[in-house]
Parts: sequence; C-alpha cells; structure tokens
Amino acid sequence: MNYQAPAQHLKDRVILITGAGQGIGATAAKAFAAQGATVILLGRKQSKLEEVYDEIEAAGHPQPAIFPVDLAKANQAEFTALAEAIYAQLGRLDGILHNAARFDNLSPLEIQNAEQFNGMLRVNLIAPFLLTKACFPLLKRSPDASVVFTSTTAAHHPAAFWGAHAISKSAAETMAKIWSEEIGLLPNLRMNTVIPGAIQTPQRKKSHPGELAENRPEIDAIMPLYLYLMGQDSAGVNGEIFEALKP
Ligand SMILES: NC(=O)c1ccc[n+]([C@@H]2O[C@H](COP(=O)([O-])OP(=O)(O)OC[C@H]3O[C@@H](n4cnc5c(N)ncnc54)[C@H](OP(=O)(O)O)[C@@H]3O)[C@@H](O)[C@H]2O)c1
Repeated sequence: MNYQAPAQHLKDRVILITGAGQGIGATAAKAFAAQGATVILLGRKQSKLEEVYDEIEAAGHPQPAIFPVDLAKANQAEFTALAEAIYAQLGRLDGILHNAARFDNLSPLEIQNAEQFNGMLRVNLIAPFLLTKACFPLLKRSPDASVVFTSTTAAHHPAAFWGAHAISKSAAETMAKIWSEEIGLLPNLRMNTVIPGAIQTPQRKKSHPGELAENRPEIDAIMPLYLYLMGQDSAGVNGEIFEALKP
C-alpha cells in the first residue's frame, strides 16, 4: 500500500501487539512507537521482548510495556487479568495487532499429531478470540479503536501439507468477519485482516526454505498498511481483507 502516515499519527494511542519479539510483530511495534503510540509487547520469550523494548526506549519513543504470555496456554481468566492490568497501568487500549502465529513445518495431516493440531488452533485462532473478548470493553471505550488479524494466502488456497496452520488461519479469518459484522454499528471500532505475503522473516524461512532470501521483500515494505489500519485514516474501514504486497 502506498500510504504515508502523517507524523505522530498514533500519538496517545495504546496498541497491543502479539508476537512482538521478532519478525513482523517486532517491526510493527517499533513502527507504531515511532508514530507516538505506547506499545504493549506481548510474546512468549521475555528476552526477545526486552530487546524490542530497549530499541524503542533508546530511540526516545513512548515507554512500552511488556507482557510475557504463552498464547498456547493462557485461558480466559488470564486474558481478562491482562486486560485489567492494561487498564490499571495505561488507562486505555486503542488497538490490537493479532500477529503471533504457530507454524511447525509443512507435513501431511496424516502425521500431524494432536498436540500440533491443538497448539496451532490455540495460538492462531483461540487466543485471538479470547484476547479480543477480554479487551472488548476497553476497545469499546476508545474514541477510535482498530483490531487487525493476520492471515495467510494458505487460508485462501488450502494446499497439501499446510495442515492445522492453514485451517486455523482460515477459521480466524471467518471469526474476524463475524466480529466485524457484529460491531458494524459501533462507529469507533473496526476489525480487519492483513495477509502479509512473502516477507523475509524467521517463519518464512521455515515455510519456504527453498526461496532465495534476497528475493523476498523486507518487513518495512508492508508497514504502511499496518500504520494505515491502526490510525484514524482507516476509520470506517471494517471487515476487509488486505493483501499487504498488493499495490
Ligand atoms: N512472513 C511471511 O511471509 C508471512 C506470510 C503470511 C502470513 N504471515 C503471518 O504473519 C504473522 C507474523 O509472522 P512472521 O513471519 O513475523 O513470523 P515469526 O517471525 O515466526 O513470528 C511469529 C511470532 O509469534 C510468536 N508466537 C508463536 N507462538 C507463540 C505463543 N505460543 N505465544 C506467544 N507468542 C507466540 C513468536 O514468538 P517466539 O519468538 O516466542 O516464538 C514470534 O514472535 C504470522 O501470523 C504469520 O502467520 C507471515
């Protein structure tokens, strides 16, 4: 997307990013912070989140918050406690980027085991549901809130070996569509889905080991779309699916 965010266009917003320790999530957290947002870095590994935190602080952007959470294990009560902690510490929530995902490898369903199947559904589908639900009261109170889900082309074109990853992403897209229909009458809240495309990240190396890294776009190439969706220029855009690498 060819979008130029106005300077500081996320100023005073509080935005939660899942999977913020590396890849697209880490880059988005830094991009949101550079635009004035207070970012909440959620991920499994504290040390990775601290690296992102340190970079944001060193750049002089608003002080972030860190919440180490394993999305495969957290239950509704824990997500509710997280939302309460956000309210107690930061007083508001204006956006969620559901970016974390579990992808193990390409393998036939015949050999994907119950732990893998269940784990991918938990991280890629059930956690975004429970987290959105827990944060819903805060989002409804925001003057302009945006929730972004992350999908993949494998959800649209189910192909052999993509197994529970594609299944969970496809179901998450359906969930995003249902949420967006249900909030259709709320003028201050929107929910959309992003398909990042073939982007140079650790997960991409795993899913497409044969691709040449130099042929993949860098993560920065898709940040204009993420900035657009998190800011007020996308107010009223609801229930859409965006392919980040399409012009
Ligand atoms: N890169 C692409 O080409 C591409 C294409 C299509 C879709 N996507 C989607 O874009 C999103 C970001 O992908 P990426 O390429 O940046 O992947 P990535 O580098 O592998 O990052 C995934 C993030 O998810 C986190 N995560 C995984 N399991 C978790 C759990 N149980 N609890 C909390 N966090 C967990 C990881 O945290 P840890 O570091 O702790 O493991 C990591 O920070 C994903 O939803 C992916 O499906 C990417």
